[in-house]
Amino acid sequence: MDLFEYQARDLFEASGVPVLAGAVASTPEQAQHAAEKIGGKVVVKAQVKIGGRGKAGGVKLAENPSEAFEKAKAILGMDIKGHTVHKVMIAGAAPIESEYYLAILLDRAARSFLVMASVSGGMDIEEVAHKTPEKLAKVHVDPNEGISADKALDIVRKGGFPSDIEKAVADVLVTLWITFKDSDATLVEVNPLVKTTDGRIIALDGKVTLDDNAAFRHPDHEALIDHAATNPLEALAKEKDLNYVKLDGEVGVIGNGAGLVMSTLDVVAYAGERFGGVKPANFLDIGGAHQLKLWLMDYQSFSAIQRSSQYL
Ligand SMILES: Nc1ncnc2c1ncn2[C@@H]1O[C@H](COP(=O)(O)OP(=O)(O)OP(=O)(O)O)[C@@H](O)[C@H]1O
Ligand SMILES: [Mg+2]
Repeated sequence: MDLFEYQARDLFEASGVPVLAGAVASTPEQAQHAAEKIGGKVVVKAQVKIGGRGKAGGVKLAENPSEAFEKAKAILGMDIKGHTVHKVMIAGAAPIESEYYLAILLDRAARSFLVMASVSGGMDIEEVAHKTPEKLAKVHVDPNEGISADKALDIVRKGGFPSDIEKAVADVLVTLWITFKDSDATLVEVNPLVKTTDGRIIALDGKVTLDDNAAFRHPDHEALIDHAATNPLEALAKEKDLNYVKLDGEVGVIGNGAGLVMSTLDVVAYAGERFGGVKPANFLDIGGAHQLKLWLMDYQSFSAIQRSSQYL
């Protein structure tokens, strides 16, 4: 499950990652009220589970509460890459001196965790990673060892951080690791982590993905689910313990086992090309392992009967 930025902010605050005060609003009035409470200049930020909000006009500075009202009015209802903005977060406006990047993620291919750190953070981090990959330090982390203070300092130095802030950034990295581990996350990303003009290090934007397979260990994660965005069919399927994902096509697919269903989706889409682009309407796995067990039981009893029939 991906979290909204305001949920990531709350998680960071609870774990001791330095953040600014923030409040979520779903109307311009609420946004104005939140801005009054926070005081001073604020930023109004679209809450959508997709990157690139700033570039899409979803992050705006407001000088005062009435401007926060106007900015929230403009951002609420906006469409950002197919995601409608239903909520905005109001946060204090930080006097930014520099923007950095820090992330911890699960690197499935390497069967390990990966930390990425760069002194060149901000909205163009994708371009930095693409054009000047040497500016983005990538260091694997042994899950059994985690990120010690020394390891964090080593990573931060590799990321090119200036020496006067490396200790403070390393502290944030250790705290992020604890947050990542304790919440069973597969991604914790801070972009930007900033240094303010008065020398503070603050996480201004957070992306967190929690591992749904570990949900049983975190009853409190239930409250983070965005029920409004959950497709009603998917919700019903989940209730019945079925692995179902609604898709946009026309052909219903029911299969035993995720692998078989995935292959069937490919075959249906491929065959559908001849009929003007007919596509699968859903992914539905009704339980491969379970079915296989039943089939094996049948097979075993069948062979037992066969074997015993030799003696009949
Ligand atoms: N609280 C804040 N105070 C001052 N400036 C901010 C604040 N939050 C964000 N900004 C500025 O806006 C930029 C974009 O904000 P943010 O990182 O939250 O959105 P984004 O990166 O566009 O979204 P995403 O990370 O989803 O792609 C930041 O790089 C920063 O320069
Ligand atoms: Mg960002």
